[in-house]
Amino acid sequence: MATHNIAVLGGDGTGPEVVAEGVKVLKAVASKFKIGLDFHYYDFGGDRYLKTGKIIDSDDINELRKYSAIFLGAIGHPDVKPGILEKGLLLRLRFELDQYINLRPVKLYPGVETPVKDKGPDEVDFVVIRENSGGIYTGHGGATQVGNEHEIATQVMVYDRFTVDRCLKYAFELKKKRNKLDKKYADKPIHLVHKTNVLTFTGDLWFRAYNEMGEKNYPEFKRDYAHVDATTMWFVKNPEWFDVIVTENLFGDIITDLGAMVQGGMGIAAGGNINPEGVSMFEPIGGSAPKYTGKHVINPLAAIEAGRMMLDELGETDAAMAIQKSVANACTKMKSQAAGKMGYTTEEVGDLVASNL
Ligand code: IPM
Ligand code: MN
Repeated sequence: MATHNIAVLGGDGTGPEVVAEGVKVLKAVASKFKIGLDFHYYDFGGDRYLKTGKIIDSDDINELRKYSAIFLGAIGHPDVKPGILEKGLLLRLRFELDQYINLRPVKLYPGVETPVKDKGPDEVDFVVIRENSGGIYTGHGGATQVGNEHEIATQVMVYDRFTVDRCLKYAFELKKKRNKLDKKYADKPIHLVHKTNVLTFTGDLWFRAYNEMGEKNYPEFKRDYAHVDATTMWFVKNPEWFDVIVTENLFGDIITDLGAMVQGGMGIAAGGNINPEGVSMFEPIGGSAPKYTGKHVINPLAAIEAGRMMLDELGETDAAMAIQKSVANACTKMKSQAAGKMGYTTEEVGDLVASNL
């Protein structure tokens, strides 16, 4: 029995609470499916930073490189200026571990309420592949004359062909997998989302690379394209149009918050920061929700779902499927996916999923 060594980074706020439920479910599924899972805990985050001034250093990162995967709770502390932990911890890990794919499923489970009128699980079942290593997030740019009335600031959307191509390849390959899984996916096109009508340089690079790769290596797929602004409209009006969406970093960040709402809220939305050749990191999409910390009301399903994605990536597909079924079952019993309104405590939701695997 091969053992997967997992680094657990609970992080800030409710992060450790939801991660604890995720670990509970992972341990239960591991014993059922005879999978070796070893958990090693790290206290990176806001509290540690406030106490020691340390966020994470290159030795820490090199240590994390040795794991099979990283399971992350949430980053963000009310007493730490916004940006410090986000850049110093979350983004640093994504960049240094070259997790160039941010995979964010938007799937509405039966029994979960969506704010989108007249849409149900049949209509909301797609994935967003957010490029996770380039774009505006790279920090290219600068500011001069800071503080005076002529202050200038730039922040540049940087892309190179290599970065675009490796992301597109992942997206096309995922589309191939999903098409084989179900005809309902095969009937839908893959979508590139950008803003080519204004971003005539980076948009053009993405657009050409997408069509060239599609034509050359995946000629059997229907390819579609949508502007990012229109995409927000389609998410609400016609979510059933989508199966696999591939997009650049910032656009992906923005549309996946909308996607999370469409699938029932931050309580259930999970994502994976994936390096297909290296160490990947899985996390609930929602933040650290400081006001709910320690109140036993936060929804752990997003973290449990992140754990499921982690097992899937580790090749433990049967165990991942079992978690998904149990999560779907839990959704039909919960009153709501919102914190404090679930009809269960955080721990009870974890128990519900763990006991029905
Ligand atoms: C996300 C978050 C992060 C991002 C922040 C916290 C840096 O919004 O994971 O979507 O912008 O990527
Ligand atoms: Mn975001």
